[in-house]
Amino acid sequence: MHVIVTGGSSGIGLAIAKIYASRGEQVSLLARHPGRLEEAQTEIAELPGSDRSRIQTISVDVTSAAQTSSAIETCEASFGPCDILVASAGVVEPVAFDAMPPSVFDEQVSINLLGTANVVRAVYKGMKSRGEGRIMMISSGAALIGIFGYTAYCASKSALSGFAEALRAEAGVHGIQVSICFPPDTLTPQYRHEIAMRPVEAEILMGSVKPWEAERVAAKIVGGVDRGRAKVHFGFSLAMLAYFGPLIKPPLMWWFSRKTRKITGKRQPDPAEGADDGSYHGK
Ligand SMILES: NC(=O)c1ccc[n+]([C@@H]2O[C@H](COP(=O)([O-])OP(=O)(O)OC[C@H]3O[C@@H](n4cnc5c(N)ncnc54)[C@H](OP(=O)(O)O)[C@@H]3O)[C@@H](O)[C@H]2O)c1
Repeated sequence: MHVIVTGGSSGIGLAIAKIYASRGEQVSLLARHPGRLEEAQTEIAELPGSDRSRIQTISVDVTSAAQTSSAIETCEASFGPCDILVASAGVVEPVAFDAMPPSVFDEQVSINLLGTANVVRAVYKGMKSRGEGRIMMISSGAALIGIFGYTAYCASKSALSGFAEALRAEAGVHGIQVSICFPPDTLTPQYRHEIAMRPVEAEILMGSVKPWEAERVAAKIVGGVDRGRAKVHFGFSLAMLAYFGPLIKPPLMWWFSRKTRKITGKRQPDPAEGADDGSYHGK
């Protein structure tokens, strides 16, 4: 079986690639930085049950449809048609909307949403002609509720939800299984980068819950692919939010906006001091 993992050089994608490699599957890792891809390949090859010759890496930026399509062609030429695609490539830059440069907003939408669409498009035709294939998109718990500082991220990840649901409606008749998962905070390089930037307002809503280990998240995702689950949720609170969001969210957002107003009130500049423009830059 040939498994393609975008974002396979790091974090959740790497942990997923390790599971498939340990099962003896052929695995293609796609990401931008060749150095990190090579390190990931070495790390995976050292696992029991895995074999370096069954792991290949391709440097690609998923925001480019042309690059992505040619990367998929290249890896299918050596390992055969893609049986399972895991679209894990993603980024997050938590900054309040009015302090976020447009390019930073656009980048998150381009990678998280359009990058996923690009790679799905690149494998979809082949899967459809063979009448089989499995696709797993990695969204986020942030798709389930709006979070302060996460306008672009929430928008891109909740858009993936609509994409996956609509595609599942189209793909089922062609034998293609489309799934999506909504991971919680997970200990990865992205999380470490994010936590350093996370606005205090976001901390109020998200709390100081211990992040999950990437291996645990990956095992649940792969289990979801194995069982053909449409959606994979993690933990009680996120599952409640997913199933009962319309009931839970109004009081939760009301409580959150009260708390936020208190913080914002404290941060208002003293008019006597004058010099500070009072803007908050989300760090
Ligand atoms: N960690 C969390 O708390 C958490 C929670 C919920 C959801 N998620 C989602 O889970 C996925 C994986 O996150 P992670 O925490 O494992 O992040 P990570 O450790 O930073 O890994 C992200 C991967 O995506 C690749 N990537 C980023 N931009 C790319 C691009 N334009 N083209 C190709 N590859 C690209 C990165 O490699 P290069 O930089 O070399 O390209 C890297 O391999 C993301 O979609 C993320 O949003 C994460």
